[in-house]
Amino acid sequence: MKIEKVMVVGSGQMGSGISQVLAQTGYQVVMNDIKKEYVEKGIAKISKQLDREIQKGRRTEEEKAALLSRITISTELEDAKDVQLVIEAATENKEIKLGIFRKLDEVAPENAILASNTSSLPITEIAAVTNRPEKVIGMHFFNPVPVMKLVEVNRGLATSDETFSIIEDLAKEMKKVPVAIKDFPGFAVNRILIPMINEAIYAVYEGIASPEGIDEVMKLGANHPMGPITLADYIGLDTCLAIMEVLYEGFGDPKYRPCPLLRKYVEAGWLGVKTGRGFYVYN
Ligand code: CAA
Repeated sequence: MKIEKVMVVGSGQMGSGISQVLAQTGYQVVMNDIKKEYVEKGIAKISKQLDREIQKGRRTEEEKAALLSRITISTELEDAKDVQLVIEAATENKEIKLGIFRKLDEVAPENAILASNTSSLPITEIAAVTNRPEKVIGMHFFNPVPVMKLVEVNRGLATSDETFSIIEDLAKEMKKVPVAIKDFPGFAVNRILIPMINEAIYAVYEGIASPEGIDEVMKLGANHPMGPITLADYIGLDTCLAIMEVLYEGFGDPKYRPCPLLRKYVEAGWLGVKTGRGFYVYN
C-alpha cells in the first residue's frame, strides 16, 4: 500500500507539528478538528513556524506556499474516506480517543492504517474497539515535532508486522528515528521522563528549592536543555497528570503517585504555556 494522503485528527501543538512535517515530506494532509477555527489556529502555528525558517534563509516563500497548499481543513471524520493513514493526535482522554477510533473504523477505507499519537494510553485497548486491530498502531511524536528526532512506534498485541514496517518507513521518510516499543503504560520515554518531572514537582512541593532553582540544577547539573518544571509547563500539566495516573493505575505501584501540587495546579486550570500560567506565567 502506498501512502499519499494522511488525515491528522487534532490540530493542537502535536497535531499541527505532525501535519507540518508530513506536508514538508510531500504528503497530502487532511487536518481535522471539531471546529474549523481550531484547525485554522493550527495552520496559523505552522505558518508562523515556516516564516521563522524563511527569516533564517532555510526556506523560500514559494516552498511555504507549496507546503501549505498540501494541507486541507476538515471538521468531519468522514473526510477519512480516501486516506491511507490516519494519525490521531486528539486530547489525551481515553473515552474521546476510543470514540474517534470507533468512528474512523466505520468511515476510513478498509485497508487504511489507524495510528495514535497517544503518549500513554494502551494501543491494544484502542485497537480492540475497531474491526482492524492488526492495522492499529502507536506513532508517538515528541514536542516540538519539527525538532525532536524520536518516534516511538508502539505495537499493540494484534499489530501486524506489515503495519509496523509501513509506519517505521514513514517515520524514517519524515527524517525521524523510529524505535519499536511494547504496549505497556507510558511506553518508554514517558515512563522515565514524567516520573522525573513529578519528582521535580515534589521537590518544589517540599520546599527543596523554587521552580527556578529546580530548573537551574537540572540544566547545570544534568545538562538538560530545559529544566523539568519548565518542561512540565511546556508539555501541559494536565498531560503530565494524565500520564502519571496511567502509570499509577497501569502498574498499581505507589511510586507513580502524582504529586498533590501537580493535581492542585490542574484543578486551578493552571496548565502551563497553553493557558498562560503554570509554574511560571507566560504572556
Ligand atoms: N517548533 C519548531 N522548531 C522549534 C520550536 C518549535 N516549537 N522551538 C524551537 N525550535 C527550533 C528553533 O527554531 C531552533 O532551530 P535552529 O537551531 O535550527 O535555529 C532550535 O529548535 C533550538 O531552539 P532555540 O535556540 O530557540 O531554543 P533551545 O536551544 O532551548 O531549544 C528546544 C528548544 C528544542 C525545545 C529545547 O529546549 C529542548 O530540547 N527541550 C526539551 C524538549 C523535550 O524534552 N521534548 C519532549 C517533551 S515530552 C513529549 O513531547 C512527549 C509526551 O508525550 C509528553
